[in-house]
Amino acid sequence: MKRSLSACLVALACTLGVASADDAVAVLTLAHDRGCLACHAIDGRPSGAPAVLPVGPAWRDLARRYKSVKGAQQTLTAKIMTGSSPEPDRSTAYERHWGGQVRGEFMPSHRTTIPEVEAARLVAWILALDIDR
Ligand code: HEC
Repeated sequence: MKRSLSACLVALACTLGVASADDAVAVLTLAHDRGCLACHAIDGRPSGAPAVLPVGPAWRDLARRYKSVKGAQQTLTAKIMTGSSPEPDRSTAYERHWGGQVRGEFMPSHRTTIPEVEAARLVAWILALDIDR
């Protein structure tokens, strides 16, 4: 029997240990619809799983790295909009934050696929993930 996406997201939300399962379902639906989950998982590779690097960093790893970093909410939202690689009209040096830990070379710009307010909502949710799990 095929399970619906929302049933899968509810099951996933319940295993995440997040404050509100309703909010998790809404945010994960948004993340799915905007294509984030094609490259990102919420949790890293379970131990014993094949050693294939993920395309992008797991979101709980983002929470571990950035939760207590000042201004992370703004800088990560901006990074989603611009992408992690410089765009043709920008001269900023390309600086990878997850080199060697992920398969993806860079994150593409999401300027045409997600409004900034939604990117900010996803970042707030990512940064609120429980990092003690
Ligand atoms: C095509 C694959 C891909 C998609 C789609 C994608 N990402 Fe990423 N993302 C990456 C990769 C690869 C990195 C690591 C880049 C690096 O090494 O600096 C990354 C990094 C990030 C970071 C951390 C940036 C940093 O400076 O450490 C955040 C936050 C993030 N992604 C959120 C999102 C959100 C939210 C979405 C959906 C709107 C999304 N990503 C969609 C591949 C992707």
